[in-house]
Amino acid sequence: GELPTATQYDEYVTTVKRHTMVHEQLMRLYQGFRRDAHPMAILVGVVGALSAYYQDSLDITNPEHRLLAATRLVAKMPTIVAMAYKYTVGQPFMYPRNELNYAENFLHMMFATPCGPYTPNPVLARALDRILILHADHEQNASTSTVRLSGSSGANPYACIASGIACLWGPAHGGANEACLNMLFDIQRQGGIEKIGEFIKQVKDKDSNTKLMGFGHRVYKNFDPRATLMRETCHEVLNELGLQNDPLFKLALELERIALEDDYFVSRKLYPNVDFYSGIVQKAIGIPVQLFTGIFAMARTIGWIAQWNEMIHDPEQKIGRPRQLYVGAARRGVVSKGIR
Ligand SMILES: CC(C)(COP(=O)(O)OP(=O)(O)OC[C@H]1O[C@@H](n2cnc3c(N)ncnc32)[C@H](O)[C@@H]1OP(=O)(O)O)[C@@H](O)C(=O)NCCC(=O)NCCS
Repeated sequence: GELPTATQYDEYVTTVKRHTMVHEQLMRLYQGFRRDAHPMAILVGVVGALSAYYQDSLDITNPEHRLLAATRLVAKMPTIVAMAYKYTVGQPFMYPRNELNYAENFLHMMFATPCGPYTPNPVLARALDRILILHADHEQNASTSTVRLSGSSGANPYACIASGIACLWGPAHGGANEACLNMLFDIQRQGGIEKIGEFIKQVKDKDSNTKLMGFGHRVYKNFDPRATLMRETCHEVLNELGLQNDPLFKLALELERIALEDDYFVSRKLYPNVDFYSGIVQKAIGIPVQLFTGIFAMARTIGWIAQWNEMIHDPEQKIGRPRQLYVGAARRGVVSKGIR
């Protein structure tokens, strides 16, 4: 793609802002979920259901429909994710405020209540904006390939994005920053900073099956470039909130320091990845750990929908059909049920 001109950019921002609200009836859908539902369970359902509410953008052969569906998804995801949070904590949904930017508006829908004014903190909004940009796209990861495969059959874009959200939910994909925070909570429970040495020993022991979550990457074998930026943001946020001495964050930074110096990690080129820092940043902002993957889904929707549109636009696009290599038994007769 090409960078938009200033006019195109402004027009696009205005268009997205025009679509931030969701259909009033969609709010009722939330009431059907248990209050303790995992936000990802809500997101899979609600995003898939968008196809029932926005039936004027389902013709995937029509570029205008595709653009409208893409704009709606980009604009409504923050609203939908924030509503999932508000629902689980039993607070009223907050309507979007379109004079705010994308990240500020999300913070408003998450943390404001109708009872009083709320001004998003610019440092936190910038941090969230960075998380969203760094997670927007990442070539053919599992969820993006899932969106493409779903879309290859001609399924509507809302259904395709719901399939991407389902795939992202898995702990091996979108759940890494949640796993990283849970690891920090575990170490904290076992005694905190004093126990780091013991924990690292366990990580190095191949039989323990313990990994240092938030370290290492399948593709980036040197420092993850996204992690460099997120690290900077992490320190900005902790300073802004005066949390440098909070036991959990101190523990995280100490773990980072030790691992960066320890030969086990250095020799294997295991550096902190983007999830290590983004988990800490989100926790500091006040986002509950269960919602981390939902924030990731909100960010990745932009990449998913762009990749989906690129695929549909391709005149040579055909239905995806992975093949299977059969390695099972050779031909067998059916033995009747009574004598099996
Ligand atoms: C991301 C991950 C799956 C990449 O795995 P990979 O590319 O297959 O790396 P390998 O399994 O080849 O690891 C190479 C070596 O480092 C070790 N290693 C890799 N990640 C490790 C970690 N997080 N903690 C401890 N040891 C680790 C492996 O045990 C292996 O050791 P060995 O050479 O002695 O056998 C892996 O690093 C991991 O599980 N990290 C933690 C989870 C995480 O943060 N995921 C988010 C990714 S964005």
